[in-house]
Amino acid sequence: MRLPTQVKLVEVGPRDGLQNEARPVPMAAKVGLIDLLSATGLGVIESGSFVSAKWVPQMADTAEVLAAIRRRPGVCYPVLTPNLQGLEAAMAAGVDEVAVFASASESFSQKNINCSIAESLDRFAPVAAKALAAGLRVRGYVSCVLGCPYEGVITPEAVAAVAVRLAEMGCAEISLGDTIGTGTPAKAQAVVAAVASRLPVAMLAAHFHDTYGQALANLLAVLEQGVAVIDASVAGLGGCPYAKGASGNVASEDVLYMLDGLGIATGVDLDRLIEAGAFICRALERPSGSKVARARGC
Ligand code: HMG
Ligand code: MG
Repeated sequence: MRLPTQVKLVEVGPRDGLQNEARPVPMAAKVGLIDLLSATGLGVIESGSFVSAKWVPQMADTAEVLAAIRRRPGVCYPVLTPNLQGLEAAMAAGVDEVAVFASASESFSQKNINCSIAESLDRFAPVAAKALAAGLRVRGYVSCVLGCPYEGVITPEAVAAVAVRLAEMGCAEISLGDTIGTGTPAKAQAVVAAVASRLPVAMLAAHFHDTYGQALANLLAVLEQGVAVIDASVAGLGGCPYAKGASGNVASEDVLYMLDGLGIATGVDLDRLIEAGAFICRALERPSGSKVARARGC
């Protein structure tokens, strides 16, 4: 088995995890979580989104959160920006990376960002251009790459077409999202193969939700193809407000345990990550979604 020797972990819990919470999450809990995550060795912690508060109320305090965290040198705290209004707010908050988020599914695009895929790409192009001109790094998400809650099957070619458009507008990294967590390893490999036939595999990130318990198997499958960036959510927090029934991202602790076991370097400390997960689970009054954390008594 050929695997990368090093993997970049992108922690998305404070955004992808908390955006879906039904009850308001106190700002202090968000700030406390990000500060604990900053002490784990993680290099990237997605910390919120500048989206419409009517659509995702849980992220309405992102500017305040970013102002309150202790930014650790060398750690990047990106946010989602669906349009120029979001980008301007993100720039005012002093971020160094933003993400635009497209879908490979027409129906999901409409439900999530209220426009077609083509319209979303037209909207993202000036966002990316302005962010790049300001010296920010831009990431692009493609959601529903392994299935859509409304349309079912999504073809790898449809995913690759959106990924290429995001790369053309200057996205440095393309995160492939199994938003509803229905993928299985061969399907995950087919999507990565389709995208990697048109873009360097080094640009790709795997963003797998664990609804059907397949995420670690899918990650191992795409690691074998050379994918070396993995998105994960501490304590397995999350879901998607526009994908009913979708559970959280694969738990960061579980991914790290697997990578440690494979001898793949990440620079992240498992005990500290478990501590950060335990903190947010206490704040949310709920057990951890990480099997590793539960095995360690958290
Ligand atoms: P819209 O209603 O079509 O937009 O929403 P609009 O331009 O007509 O604006 C409507 C209102 O929203 C206006 O306010 C705007 O000012 C405001 P009003 O005049 O009615 O008071 N507004 C904003 N407010 C704050 N920040 C902004 C902003 N833009 C407009 N940036 C829009 C279109 C894209 C804004 C909306 O659909 C939206 O915010 N969607 C976000 C949805 C979201 O965050 N979903 C979750 C993240 S995606 C995801 O989870 C998938 C991912 O994890 C990968 C995976 O798992 O596959 C990334
Ligand atoms: Mg997600």
